[in-house]
Amino acid sequence: MSTVDAVNPGRRRFLTLTATVVGGVGAAFVAVPFLKSWSPSERAKAAGAPVEADISKLEEGALMTVEWRGKPVWLLKRSKKMLDDLPGLKGQLLDPDSSTTSQQPKYAQNVDRSIKPEVLVLVGICTHLGCSPTFRPDAAPADLGPEWKGGFFCPCHGSRFDLAGRVYKNVPAPKNLEVPSYRFLSESRVLIGVDPEAA
Ligand code: FES
Repeated sequence: MSTVDAVNPGRRRFLTLTATVVGGVGAAFVAVPFLKSWSPSERAKAAGAPVEADISKLEEGALMTVEWRGKPVWLLKRSKKMLDDLPGLKGQLLDPDSSTTSQQPKYAQNVDRSIKPEVLVLVGICTHLGCSPTFRPDAAPADLGPEWKGGFFCPCHGSRFDLAGRVYKNVPAPKNLEVPSYRFLSESRVLIGVDPEAA
C-alpha cells in the first residue's frame, strides 16, 4: 500500500486518499536506491503495474490524484451540471468526438470520455509540452472569461481543456488529455492500467 495525497484545488482542501499498487510493489517509488537489486520482473512491475484508486470518499465536484507509471492520474467525480455542459462545448473544441484514437481507449470514445459518466479518469499531463494543468472547476472566473464552464488550465502556455479533458481550439496543446486504460473493480474501486475486459 502506498498513500497518495490528493488535492482539491477547487475547494482548497486536502483529502488523504489511498492508492494500492497491485502486485505488492508499493515501495517502488521510495526504493530507488535499491533498484539495481531488483529482478527484471520486479522492475517491469514498478514501471507498469496497475494502480488501484479508492474513490469512496471522493465527493461530487472533487478531484483526486494517484500516481501511475510515474505520472499523475486524476479521478474527478463529475456533477450532473458538469456533464450537462459537455455537449454544448462541441464547436469550441479541437477534437470534440475524440477522433484521435491514441488519446483514449475505445470504451472512452464517447462524449463523456469515460466508462461511467460521473467518474472521469485522465492522465494529468498537458499534451503540449508536458506541464501539469490545474483543475479549474469554477465557472466564468475573471482570468478565464465568462464562457468558461470549468475544466483544466495549463499555466505553462495557456492550453485549456474541458471537464472531459478535450482540448479547446486555438491553444498550443494539439490533442485531448489522455484517458488511460482502467476498469471498475467495484462502485468505489478503480484499477488504472488495465482494460475492462482484462482478467
Ligand atoms: S505545456 Fe501546457 S500549454 Fe504548453
